[in-house]
Amino acid sequence: MKNRTSNYVTPDAVRSTLRRFRRLRMTEPLRSMVRETELSTNDLIYPLFIVPDEKIRKPVASMPGVFQLSIDETIKECTEVHSLNIPAVILFGIPEHKDEQASGAYDENGIIQRAIRAIKKEVPELLIITDVCLCEYTSHGHCGIIKDDVILNDESVELIAKEALTHAQAGADMVAPSDMFDGRVKAIRIILDDNGFQNLPIMSYAAKYASAFYGPFRDAAESAPKFGDRRSHQMDPGNSNEALREVEQDIIEGADIVMVKPALPYLDIIRRVKEEFIMPTAAYNVSGEYAMIKAAAEKGWIDGERVMMETLLSIKRAGADMISTYFAKEAAALLRNNIE
Ligand code: PBG
Repeated sequence: MKNRTSNYVTPDAVRSTLRRFRRLRMTEPLRSMVRETELSTNDLIYPLFIVPDEKIRKPVASMPGVFQLSIDETIKECTEVHSLNIPAVILFGIPEHKDEQASGAYDENGIIQRAIRAIKKEVPELLIITDVCLCEYTSHGHCGIIKDDVILNDESVELIAKEALTHAQAGADMVAPSDMFDGRVKAIRIILDDNGFQNLPIMSYAAKYASAFYGPFRDAAESAPKFGDRRSHQMDPGNSNEALREVEQDIIEGADIVMVKPALPYLDIIRRVKEEFIMPTAAYNVSGEYAMIKAAAEKGWIDGERVMMETLLSIKRAGADMISTYFAKEAAALLRNNIE
C-alpha cells in the first residue's frame, strides 16, 4: 500500500487534501458503483423445521417469524421461498419418536425423508439441503450414540452416513453433516458414491463451535441435550488455527462446500477459511444471532431491517459465499423491492 501511494503523497498533496473520500459518497449512484460487496438473494439458504401431523404452523417463541411446520405447511412455505427466488432450503426434522439409536434419522419413511419427497414433487426447482445429525432423533438430545456417558464417534458416524444416504435416496440435492464427529465426511462420501450418488455434493459444517448462540434453535428443533453439553465434539470458541485444521480435513475427506458456524461472532474464522482454502464457503447465521436482532428491534432499540441487512452483508464481506439464515425471506423481499 505504501509503495503504491508514496509517489502521490507529497507534503503538498497532504496539505491541499487532494484525497477527498467523501467525493464518492455523495450520492447513491456513486456509492453503488464503488460498493465492494453486495448481498444477493442467490446467497441465501432458508432453514425449515418440519414436524409430524398436518396443518401445523407452530410459532417458535424465541424466534419471531419462525415456525415448526407440518409437511403440508412446509410445501406452502417452500412455494413462497421459491417465488422469492431464494435458491435453497435446509431441512431439520422433529420425529414422532425419539430413541437411543436415533432410528428416526435413517428411517426411509422418517419425517425428513417424507418431506423431501413431498417438496420435490410440488416445488421441484427448489434446492433441498438436509441437515445430517442425530441430535433431533435421540431421546437424550445428543448428536450421537452414548455408552457409559461417552458420545461414541465411529458408531455414530455409521448411523450418520446411513442417514445421509436415506436423504439422498428420498431426493435431497445436498447433504450437510452438522455433527462434528471425526471422519463423517469421508463416511458419507463413500456411502453416497457406493450407491450411485457420486454427483451429490456435501456441505460440511466444518468449523462448528460449541456456542451458546444455538439456544433458540434447540427450542425449535427440540434437540437440547438432556444432560451435559456438546463440547466433546464441537469446537472451543477460543480456537482459530484448529478451525483451519478441521476445514482442511473435511476438504481432504471430500467436502464440496465448507461452513463456519455461528457467523457473526466468528467473522474472523470465515475470513481465514476463505483466504486459506479458496473453497465455496458457507456461514450459518444462527438462531441466537437472529433472536438478538429480533428482540432488540421489537423493543425499538435498533432498526431491525437495517441491522439485518448490515449483518448479512458483513458475513459476505468476511468471505462467505452463501448464508444460511432465518432472515432469508425478509432479506429476499427487501432485495426484490429495492430492485423494483
Ligand atoms: C445440529 C445443529 C444445530 C444447529 C444446526 N444444526 C444445533 C446444535 O449443534 O446444537 C444450530 C442452528 C442454529 O442455532 O440456528 N443438528
